[in-house]
Amino acid sequence: MIKVKKRKILLLPGDGIGPEVIGEVKKIINWFNNKKSLDFEIDEDLVGGSSYDKHGTPITDEVFYKALESAVIMLGAVGGPKWDNIEFSKKPERALLKLRKELKLFANLRPAICFKQLVDASTLKPEIVSGLDIMIVRELTGGIYFGEPRGIKPIENGERKGINTHTYTSSEIIRVAKIAFELAKKRSNKVTSCEKSNVMEAGQLWREEVQTLHDKEYKDVELSHMLADNCSMQLLRNPKQFDVIVTDNLFGDMLSDQASMLTGSLGLLPSASLGAKNKDGEMRAMYEPIHGSAPDIAGKGIANPIASILSFAMALRYSLDLDKEAEALEKAVQDVLNDGFRTKDILSDGMKEVSTSQMGDALISKLQ
Ligand code: IPM
Ligand code: MG
Repeated sequence: MIKVKKRKILLLPGDGIGPEVIGEVKKIINWFNNKKSLDFEIDEDLVGGSSYDKHGTPITDEVFYKALESAVIMLGAVGGPKWDNIEFSKKPERALLKLRKELKLFANLRPAICFKQLVDASTLKPEIVSGLDIMIVRELTGGIYFGEPRGIKPIENGERKGINTHTYTSSEIIRVAKIAFELAKKRSNKVTSCEKSNVMEAGQLWREEVQTLHDKEYKDVELSHMLADNCSMQLLRNPKQFDVIVTDNLFGDMLSDQASMLTGSLGLLPSASLGAKNKDGEMRAMYEPIHGSAPDIAGKGIANPIASILSFAMALRYSLDLDKEAEALEKAVQDVLNDGFRTKDILSDGMKEVSTSQMGDALISKLQ
């Protein structure tokens, strides 16, 4: 068994805008080390397409090993059109999925909070989104992303068949539902569980297991079940009806992208992917912005680093037991927004447009 090193942070910037946004996270970590005498040990390596270009694989064994012994992995983003046509098993995304699966990071927390300063950046009416604070808990190591059998195989008449399998076991459902109920207890005490129990047996099992767990251990939390297509509609109609949404891997992928736009920009939303605690209380975890590699704006210095920086705030809170520091960083984000600093994606009239690194610098000056 590889031991997790308590203060070790592995930066995996990846592709596209990943290196730019993780660069700002690195500045913040260095600031904490220098100014707050914290002893984070930072390492940095390649993942995704950038690893493929250098090593012919989206993640080397060496990098995977480093990931195993790090308490925190800060990932930027992977993928881009450059690698669209390479062999499936070598695609940049495979690295991310391998990290999630083999590090057993089954609970993906994706908060969608609409900052009051950015209400106008949303495409929805202000009254629909202002004050919005939802937590999507996405199952991350099961479902159709990983189910077997899978593949593309030849069938009769020269046709081919693409196969993926959607499966969930009771324990996979229960462990992620527990995380959702526990989070709800610290929030507005409400869980909405989403599946397609009307068409999928795995969805029916999902509904039954979540209900049973609720009746056994979380009676005081308000639980409702919703079909995933309805949830997608309700997120636009009246998003503030939700507190915690718990759902499977694929529905969680889609519903979280949708929820992010309620807040104005994909560039604002962090995420945490958490494993189970071992008997020594150690937990592996990976933190990443929910936006992708955005190849169209990569290298221009205009990407919004806030999602990555808020992901680091989640790392401070969930992995490093530094709640005060997490709050300070989140407050710094509020303060720079109050001062009118905006990257291009959230720019509006009368605000000051700043680059990726100017946004990072502004945050640091607020931390001082
Ligand atoms: C996400 C992304 C990933 C996913 C991709 C990059 C594999 O969309 O984290 O939401 O589908 O899970
Ligand atoms: Mg996604």
